[in-house]
Amino acid sequence: MKPVELIKLPIKKEMELFEKKFKDSMLSKVPLLNRITYYIVRRKGKQMRPMFVFLVAKMVSEGGFDERTYRGASVVELIHTATLVHDDVVDDSNRRRGFFSINALWKNKIAVLVGDFLLSKGLLLSIDNEDFDLLKLISIAVREMSEGELLQIEKARKLDITEDIYFDIIRQKTATLIAACCGIGAASVGASNETVQQMRKFGEYIGIAFQIKDDLFDYTDEKIGKPTGIDIKEQKMTLPLIYTLNNCSKKEKSWIINSVKKYNKDKKRVKEVIAFVKENGGIDYTIAKMNDYKNKALSILETYPDSPYKSSLLQMIDYVVERKV
Ligand code: IPE
Ligand code: IPE
Ligand code: MG
Ligand code: MG
Repeated sequence: MKPVELIKLPIKKEMELFEKKFKDSMLSKVPLLNRITYYIVRRKGKQMRPMFVFLVAKMVSEGGFDERTYRGASVVELIHTATLVHDDVVDDSNRRRGFFSINALWKNKIAVLVGDFLLSKGLLLSIDNEDFDLLKLISIAVREMSEGELLQIEKARKLDITEDIYFDIIRQKTATLIAACCGIGAASVGASNETVQQMRKFGEYIGIAFQIKDDLFDYTDEKIGKPTGIDIKEQKMTLPLIYTLNNCSKKEKSWIINSVKKYNKDKKRVKEVIAFVKENGGIDYTIAKMNDYKNKALSILETYPDSPYKSSLLQMIDYVVERKV
């Protein structure tokens, strides 16, 4: 069995029902939208965010459950999908989940509008059911994600990113949504505010490790269903490169900056930069940082009593840093 299948075992029934509800949550009266959302549902991703919602809900309530939990799971996956559709426009990326991205098939105009549609569907699902506590958690994430993406663009333009800013960016653009998933899981079953906040922190740590892993993929040639090697092309400086810049000679530093500034579309030059990063410990350093965050998440989980849900979450933490896609 694949790692994800094993992790899903204690929430198998919930995930199956979720898939149906998620599909229905996208329905529209506009035929073009239905064609596109049909395409999106067929090319589904790993669905890690709804898994976090269900596993945390079950862990903190010792198996308890609520219809709100399903809605929370649908909301987070809708928002996630919306941000991916927009992200591929922003990053000018033509592949997603092993196939064409929405912008590659239907162009930017349509992709922007589809993303907005999915976002509104997510928010309305909470509003129509008066899940205002969940709506607040998700809205904070939506705001932070746009801020994170914009901060990233600002830094890509100026090429003056530091390690602290890198962590701010990934906390905002990625970790905050996973934090919301874990917070929503807990809030959906009526957990105390203290537990909700603790689960948010847990999600934030995993989310940071998750994005570091994603940034490491970009330095490989592995087949992960979306392009690799595009961060430098987009002048996006991630941790492996930031570390290398801070730990090389002045001359090497200007060579790297110059490569990112002027030769970012030159495939051979980009490959040379990637090789330089690897030779100078950029990848090793980044893996060590990723594991720090993994351990921070672990130490929060350790305070909860053992259960099948906790054990799935423990496997989930390993999966985040060891996954192949
Ligand atoms: C991709 O997230 C976007 C990032 C935050 C790196 P996932 O890797 O969870 O995407 P899917 O849903 O499985 O395709
Ligand atoms: C993650 O950003 C997507 C969002 C958080 C919106 P990236 O641009 O790094 O992710 P991928 O690699 O395209 O999935
Ligand atoms: Mg992006
Ligand atoms: Mg992208």
